[in-house]
Amino acid sequence: MSIVVTGASGKLGRHVVEQLLEKVPAGQVTAVVRSPEKVADLAERGVRVAAADYNAPETFDGLFAAGDKVLLISGNEFDRGRVRQHSVVIDAAKAAGVALLAYTSAPGSLTAALADDHRGTERALLDSGVPYVLLRNGWYHENYTENLAPVLEHDAVVAAAGEGRVSSASRADYAAAAVAVLTGEGHENTTYELGGDEAWSFAEYAAELSRQTGREIVYNPVTTEALTGILTGAGLPEPVAATFAGVDAAIAKGELVVDSGDLSRLIGRPTTPLAEAIAAALKD
Ligand SMILES: NC(=O)c1ccc[n+]([C@@H]2O[C@H](COP(=O)([O-])OP(=O)(O)OC[C@H]3O[C@@H](n4cnc5c(N)ncnc54)[C@H](OP(=O)(O)O)[C@@H]3O)[C@@H](O)[C@H]2O)c1
Repeated sequence: MSIVVTGASGKLGRHVVEQLLEKVPAGQVTAVVRSPEKVADLAERGVRVAAADYNAPETFDGLFAAGDKVLLISGNEFDRGRVRQHSVVIDAAKAAGVALLAYTSAPGSLTAALADDHRGTERALLDSGVPYVLLRNGWYHENYTENLAPVLEHDAVVAAAGEGRVSSASRADYAAAAVAVLTGEGHENTTYELGGDEAWSFAEYAAELSRQTGREIVYNPVTTEALTGILTGAGLPEPVAATFAGVDAAIAKGELVVDSGDLSRLIGRPTTPLAEAIAAALKD
């Protein structure tokens, strides 16, 4: 029996594997990646590394074993049919008879186009009959704190979120929730709505950036059309820019506030404050 993590070469996957290694022997952890060289360090530490691609169903043949607990981390190829990609993993997990398949989804409250693949994958997972956990992850702090360059260049946070609030948390927090589910008992067939303990507005985000940098950074609210234009101007393809702007529209409607308390309950501690993520990003 192994704990198997797909997307293990990604940022969330790395956090999950690191935190798993604090709890279980390396030999019980399998990292599924497209490019094994990306996780050579994990292999050296005794993690089993398996090469597989969501686009190539045959690469998942025989990868899972009966009794495995699997974390399916959603892919990031938005234009390649993610529901079909994720179904490849679900089908292989079903064929093997895994004990649990946890999927990193999006909040149930999110109606933006970005959530469509997650709802489709959730349906496929529930229809499969495999014991499941839906980890409906809210937004990462890092979506913002890893993109500070234009903010610091213009002393402005530009968003189309109006007065909307976001209850984000750090990737490490969401990884801790996944690890709690993968190493704990009694999570089968459960849906967790995961978000940070505190919701913040973009004006508050700008104020915290001002406090930490000693500069005056303002929130510049724009329309979704204007944001789409700014993002395409910065080089994003139009559909991707529109999808991102659609997320801001959802934030304006309050769809990224998750106040279930599930995340801090699962990880047994408060979630990481946004201010901490800003401080870490400014230090880099
Ligand atoms: N909640 C949020 O705020 C938020 C924000 C951004 C993304 N997400 C979602 O959460 C996921 C994890 O976040 P992250 O920050 O870890 O993203 P990330 O760093 O971009 O990692 C994505 C992972 O998915 C893997 N992957 C993509 N396509 C694949 C394929 N065809 N076959 C096998 N593996 C594939 C990537 O492998 P390679 O290393 O080979 O590319 C990588 O390991 C994202 O993929 C996205 O679905 C959530």
